[in-house]
Amino acid sequence: MNDKEIREIINDLTLEEKIKMIHGAGLFRTEGVERKKIPPLRFSDGPLGVRNEFPDASWVPYGYTDDFVSYLPSGTALASTWNPELSYRCGQVLGEEARGRGKDMILGPGINIMRSPLCGRNFEYMSEDPFLVSKICVPYIRGVQENDVSVCVKHFAVNNQETERLEVNVEVSERALHEIYFPAFKAAVEEGDAYAFMCAYNRWEGLHCSANKRLLTQILKSDWHFDGVVVSDWGAVHDSKGAAEAGLDIDMNVTYDFDNYCFARPLMEEVKSGHVDEKIIDDKVARILGLMDKIHIFSSERKEGCFNTPEHQKAALDIARESVILLKNQNCSGKKILPLNKKEIKTIAVIGENADILQSHAGGSAEIKSLYEITPLLGITMAAGGNISVKYERGYSPDSAKADDLRASALKLAQECDAVIYVGGCAHYNPKFQMGTNAIGVSKDDEPCRIDSEGFDRDDLTLPYGQDVLLCELLKLRPDTVTVIFSGNAVDMSRWINSTAALIQTTYNGMEGGRALAEVIFGKVNPSGKLPYTILKQLADCPAHSAGDFPGDVTGDVKTVHYREGIFVGYRYFETFRKESEFCFGHGLSYTDFEYSDLNVIQMDSQRIKAVLNVKNTGARYGKETVQIYLSPVNPKTERSIKELKAFKKIELEAGETKRVVFEIHKKDFARFDENRQCWITDSGKYEIMAGSSVKDIRLKSSVELSEGFYEK
Ligand code: BGC
Repeated sequence: MNDKEIREIINDLTLEEKIKMIHGAGLFRTEGVERKKIPPLRFSDGPLGVRNEFPDASWVPYGYTDDFVSYLPSGTALASTWNPELSYRCGQVLGEEARGRGKDMILGPGINIMRSPLCGRNFEYMSEDPFLVSKICVPYIRGVQENDVSVCVKHFAVNNQETERLEVNVEVSERALHEIYFPAFKAAVEEGDAYAFMCAYNRWEGLHCSANKRLLTQILKSDWHFDGVVVSDWGAVHDSKGAAEAGLDIDMNVTYDFDNYCFARPLMEEVKSGHVDEKIIDDKVARILGLMDKIHIFSSERKEGCFNTPEHQKAALDIARESVILLKNQNCSGKKILPLNKKEIKTIAVIGENADILQSHAGGSAEIKSLYEITPLLGITMAAGGNISVKYERGYSPDSAKADDLRASALKLAQECDAVIYVGGCAHYNPKFQMGTNAIGVSKDDEPCRIDSEGFDRDDLTLPYGQDVLLCELLKLRPDTVTVIFSGNAVDMSRWINSTAALIQTTYNGMEGGRALAEVIFGKVNPSGKLPYTILKQLADCPAHSAGDFPGDVTGDVKTVHYREGIFVGYRYFETFRKESEFCFGHGLSYTDFEYSDLNVIQMDSQRIKAVLNVKNTGARYGKETVQIYLSPVNPKTERSIKELKAFKKIELEAGETKRVVFEIHKKDFARFDENRQCWITDSGKYEIMAGSSVKDIRLKSSVELSEGFYEK
């Protein structure tokens, strides 16, 4: 459909008909215009799969059996793979499943920056680093949209906490916005060609994002040339005229009085009384029709989808395999603990409730009605193969009256078995959820919910339910324990980290997650995940908490959070201010070793630089390594992070094999955002180019001299 055809349709629509297209007429749909054969737009959460089916006017799902789907690895799991091809595959699967379920738009990916480890929605998000988020979200978007389904990239912008998310005003510097909080959203438009965005709940510059003209019209639609549709977060609109004029296109909400949504009768009255120009409504409808055309809603050739296919389950497994992160693997009695050798084991004690709970059906809007879900316990038992006896003890519980008994039984079992695997972490019922309402204000008293959850931030980094006490005692008895932490972000490891010889970090990595974890534990799969965030030693070290505030001053009528740490988010802070972390960004071990050599930096022309190096697998088995390139200004004239990730590549190597790895770096990659001149500037001077296996484990360095360069924002 070209612009002229879209204009013609709009000219033939009444105001009432146009209004029907721009607000919810069910919790997850708009109204179409039957007379013109314009169907409703059908949405679904997102992002870990296609959510179950709700009636138009009830938050109680139907509970039918025809909406089970594939539960896909979370944003954090995808970023942990550092593998854009897997992210593309995940997007393809999600697109096919959404189409298979008859949806037009999937409410994801969630790409907000992990500013504090406490944010309850970190598990949906991808990383603390904007470059990594961009590289993971762009192929995901392409994968979804190839299937004639739109993404809805969320939550735009600076929605980095759940506490008071509906009202909190974010105070953040322009520079931090452009260097940290905007790049992935910009890449989603410019490289991913995302058809839709979701505006965030919170305020920025005093205004709700839904009514923030600078954000939606100036930055998104004008500066970034976004020609798609901006959908509100559910219940984020408070002002019909303000939001309509700011550039919001569709108003969705959590209530059932659809005719009273801001963009329903109230906006119609504003137009009729001359307070809002009808052309503004026309622009929204034009964008919606444009989106419908892109996803071939009007075409008889629209792609058909499918869900729950073996290929989708295989994709979930392949992604999960690469998302498991081996943090530590030291010697115990003369040899590395992992992988466990099945031939040497007759009995395994699996300890910890996280081994034995289903995760998919909780967490807020990212909940999934999964066709199946392999828990860690199931995965380990399947992998054990029947000749090994796998015994399970829960070890801890939210009910403190049971704690002593559970701990005693777990410790007893640990002493009796040949191998011990502890699976703890954050995934659990959220006591706060039990008492109150859900994130969007609807009572769901009996819904199971994780501590990693929409609607709430964690109170601190401590492992819940006395796990620290149990782990300390367990590790004293059995220093050869394999410790697995299952969480959406960092937990405090300080009390037991020095006694742990083998440590794995895993997350909500889909329906095959338990199988993938077991394959890593027993060595069928060589781990290749790397941390997409920093694991802190203590919360006070987090820049959002020490330099800025989190969750801000949210007790009074005016709620504000100051991002005083500016650009120093995550590893940028730890590296620049030489703070120690427990495990650094980009860290992740393998069962083999990689040797880096011969870094050569070649200036191709005035704008492009090539970095070439060799990586050799020096160990005895096949493995994958993510080579990371960090840029570092030498003697910067302005405040800079001393390391910024600007390229990475995941390569696979047979034992003994060497590969040449080539990176192309642009002069613009060295730039900082200049607030005064409102553009990107590469300062003249010397820059180091570092190749490493993590942000700390820099193996090779070289340098370039650059002249000054200016780039548009
Ligand atoms: C969440 C969104 C979600 C929407 C619809 C909101 O509470 O913030 O991410 O897509 O609900 O369920």
